[in-house]
Amino acid sequence: MTKITAAITAISGYVPDYVLTNAELEKMVDTTDEWIISRTGIKERRILKGAGLGTSDLGAPAVKRLLEKRGIAASEIELIICATTTPDYVFPATANIISDKVGAVNAFGYDISAACSGFLFALVTGSKFIESGQYTKVIVVGADKMSSIVDYTDRTTCVLFGDGAGAVLLEPNTEGYGIRDSILRSDGSGRAFLHQKSGGSVSPPSYKTIDNKEHFVFQDGQPVFKAAVTKMADVSAEIMEKNHLKSEDVAWLVPHQANKRIIDATARRMGVGTEKVMLNIERYGNTTSGTIPLCLWDYEKQLKKGDNLILAAFGGGFTWGSIWVKWGH
Ligand code: UT7
Repeated sequence: MTKITAAITAISGYVPDYVLTNAELEKMVDTTDEWIISRTGIKERRILKGAGLGTSDLGAPAVKRLLEKRGIAASEIELIICATTTPDYVFPATANIISDKVGAVNAFGYDISAACSGFLFALVTGSKFIESGQYTKVIVVGADKMSSIVDYTDRTTCVLFGDGAGAVLLEPNTEGYGIRDSILRSDGSGRAFLHQKSGGSVSPPSYKTIDNKEHFVFQDGQPVFKAAVTKMADVSAEIMEKNHLKSEDVAWLVPHQANKRIIDATARRMGVGTEKVMLNIERYGNTTSGTIPLCLWDYEKQLKKGDNLILAAFGGGFTWGSIWVKWGH
């Protein structure tokens, strides 16, 4: 029987209009443009403004654009998986709300929570539904409204994050294009260093949790940085070795955009030159689940059929992983 792979047949993204610059942050907290750029590589990030708007308002426009681009009706979509850390609600899943907003009336959907590795975890999950032969049109969305859980009085986190979404369409391919291999990992002991203290079942919302600012991202930056540098680089090198890919075989590294220094370390470990590294952290900051599809969207015109892409991420949980994609169009 011919092997089916899940090819990415369309890609799109959406970022909100409001641009939060380093200059504006300098007025909000004790920071400088120089510190932010030299320590992270970020110059600006996008923020979704407006009451009553949530992560689905980033994901839905990305999906609408995706459908238009591929020229298919929303009713043809069978499954929508949304990777997000900032769902519209605790329940129901944001994927269901996106389905409703785009008119994907025949799709089922659910969310995946794996912090900054969420898009990779969701992409692998979606690919399995295609590889099994059960479905032929699966959408994977990575969307986060990080501004909803960022404390804009905390200089150690508020400079890092932004809002945005990206989406890909997966369809079956029998010529070997698409998601070829993946390595996904998690280590729950890392939760101490990067988490949201309250709002879940361990510590439900209360006046006290709000007064103590426990509904925001908490990050102990240095341990996360050290783990990210090691794990993202290790897993990227591992997927190359496993698939006998040399650095010259890799057309693009598509890294999670948390810190330019982490990205540079990963590229060095893979032996990949900076000209092969997708980078848009300076414009969007860390959009969590959005970073990797937003990079693909930005660089799509430069991709060629047959290019080997290594997608790599590290995030809260801890979670991390890499995916080898053979670009198919
Ligand atoms: O995407 C999910 C995974 N997350 C990551 O991968 C993030 C990993 N961590 C990082 O990227 C970095 O640790 C940060 C960018 C968060 C911080 O950079 P750092 O070089 O590790 O700085 P640091 O935390 O060691 O802080 C160094 C100094 C401190 O001051 P003192 O104690 O030396 O006086 C901080 O208070 O920099 C200070 N600092 C700032 N100064 C100006 C921290 N944030 C800022 C700021 N502006 N925004």
